[in-house]
Amino acid sequence: MSYETIQYQLADGVATITLNRPDVHNAMNEQMRQELTRCFGELSASDDARVIVVTGAGERAFSAGADIREFVAPQVPTRFRESRRRVDFRAVMDRCPQPLIAAIRGYAFGGGLELALACDIRIAGEDARLGLTEIDLAIIPGGGGTQRLPRLVGRGRALEMILSGARIDAREALRIGLVERVVPAADVLAAALALAKTLAAKAPVALRYAKEALVKGLELPLADGLRFEHDLATLLRTTEDRVEGAKAFLEKRKPRFTGK
Ligand code: COA
Repeated sequence: MSYETIQYQLADGVATITLNRPDVHNAMNEQMRQELTRCFGELSASDDARVIVVTGAGERAFSAGADIREFVAPQVPTRFRESRRRVDFRAVMDRCPQPLIAAIRGYAFGGGLELALACDIRIAGEDARLGLTEIDLAIIPGGGGTQRLPRLVGRGRALEMILSGARIDAREALRIGLVERVVPAADVLAAALALAKTLAAKAPVALRYAKEALVKGLELPLADGLRFEHDLATLLRTTEDRVEGAKAFLEKRKPRFTGK
C-alpha cells in the first residue's frame, strides 16, 4: 500500500495509520479521504492486521478536520453529495472487524474528531483539544458527528458541543466519556500501541467476535442482542484456539493462538 497523505505500517499484527499533513495540522483534503477509504477498505479484509491504531503526524495535532481551503470553491450540491458518499471512509471504518484505537495528540477538530469517534477506543494526550467546530463555518458535522457523539456522551452534552462549537480539553473529554484515557502528551502513541499489542495477542476470532457482539448488539433490542451474543459465544466453543487456551492455562504456559 503506498500513500502520500497518510503513512501505513504493519508490525506484529498492529496496523498503524498516521495522518500525514503536519503543515496544516493533518487537515483532511480529498486525497486523504480517498487514501483513508482505500486503506481502511483493504484492512477490513485483512487477517494480518488484528488491531488498527490511528494517529496524527507531528506533535501538535491529531487532525484539524476538513481542509478548509476546499470550502472556498463553489459546490454543485448533487456532485458534492455524491463525491462525499463515494469516499465516506468512516463508513468503511465501520466495516473493519478489528478494534480501532485513536491516539490523539493536540488538536482533534471537526472531521478529525469524527475520525476519532469512528474508532472504538480513544486515548488522548494531556495536550488534546477536541471539538466539533463546524457550526463556526456555517456547516454541521457531516462525517457522523451528530450521530456518534450523542451515542457516546449523551444528547445534552453532544448538543452543547455541536451547537456551540466548543473546543474542550482532555480532562473534560475524559469526564464526559468522549475519550477513554488521558496520558502525558509524549506517551500517547506508546500507550495506544501497548494496548494494541495486548489485544493483538488474543485469539484472533474471539477478539473480532467480542467487538462484533458489542457493536452490533448495541443496535439491537436487548433480547436480540443477547441471542446474537449467545450465537457468537457458541460458535467460539468450536475453535481450536479455545482448546489451546484451556490447555495453556492448565499447563501454566502462554497460549499459541492460530486463529483456527
Ligand atoms: N484546513 C486547512 N488548513 C488548516 C486547517 C484546516 N482545517 N487547520 C489549520 N490549517 C492551517 C492554517 O491555515 C495554517 O496554515 P498557514 O501556515 O498556511 O497559515 C496552518 O494550518 C497552521 O495553523 P495555525 O492556525 O497557524 O495554527 P494554530 O496553532 O494557531 O491553530 C488550530 C491551530 C487547529 C486551532 C486552528 O488552525 C484552527 O482552528 N483550525 C480550524 C479547525 C476547524 O475548525 N476544523 C473544522 C473544519 S470543518
